[in-house]
Amino acid sequence: YSMLKHASVEGSLPLLSAITQESLDSASSFEPEPGDVFVITYPKCGTTWMNNILYLMKNNGVTVEEGDNIANYFPFIELIGGEATKEKPRPRFIKSHLLFDILPQSSNAKYIHVARNPKDCVVSFYHHTVGYEQFYDWNDGKLDDYFEIFMAGGCDWGSYFEMVPRWYERSLKQDNILFLFYEDMIVDLRKEVLKVADFLGPSWKESLLRNNEEILDKVLENASFSAMKAKQKRYFYSPRPKDRPFLRKGAIGSWRDELSEEQSKLIDLKMAETAQKYPDFE
Ligand code: PPS
Repeated sequence: YSMLKHASVEGSLPLLSAITQESLDSASSFEPEPGDVFVITYPKCGTTWMNNILYLMKNNGVTVEEGDNIANYFPFIELIGGEATKEKPRPRFIKSHLLFDILPQSSNAKYIHVARNPKDCVVSFYHHTVGYEQFYDWNDGKLDDYFEIFMAGGCDWGSYFEMVPRWYERSLKQDNILFLFYEDMIVDLRKEVLKVADFLGPSWKESLLRNNEEILDKVLENASFSAMKAKQKRYFYSPRPKDRPFLRKGAIGSWRDELSEEQSKLIDLKMAETAQKYPDFE
């Protein structure tokens, strides 16, 4: 809990109030089964996009219905705990932002990790945080302050620079971890969706490619930013204020509009330090 909370970081934000020591303990004691698929990201790196892709792959490319919500199909394990996750219908899809060391592991379960450039991540996370008045008393917070907290590992779920490289290193050693990049998904979503299908197994791939790739085409169409933005209420885990949409920019490099040159350099430096600590991670 203290790893997620980073209480020692000066000026750190309070942990999302809905996550408790109890829900986290319960999540940590969850026992994955064969067939379980975890979607893991550091916050704001593409969880909801990947959730939607998996939902579409499983449902013939048809979008979650109006009035329904993707959250119903991707239990957020650290929020609802392991007990409630256990009851979900099979195959179970599970959402998490937890560190590799905390999330229950099983060689029989599959883990899809999506990573994103930390510059776009910090900007997205800042907008996310100021928008959630119900969780954080921070709606007049400034990006410059948030940036410092992010760099020090004081945001919810701790440090990007620990969480992402740890998962990456593990993915090189374990074939039950698929490590993808948000940027690759933007550039060639088809290619990344096919990687997901290959990773999940032959029946997923067959189902995706049947009818002359009709299902694949629908998945790509309904997983596009514009299609998801048009129906974004279906993808919220918690309601958002109208002027702070969940699907905000959905782009590579929009950090350029908001981060200073100096902040960008600080991230470059931190990434270089991170690569020294985790040599496989560049
Ligand atoms: S959360 O709250 O941690 O679950 O957020 P997460 O879903 O991981 O990340 C939200 C960002 O992902 C963007 N997004 C997309 N980008 C491109 N295409 C599609 N289809 C898509 N769906 C979600 C979303 O817009 C958030 O990024 P920003 O930069 O804030 O727009």
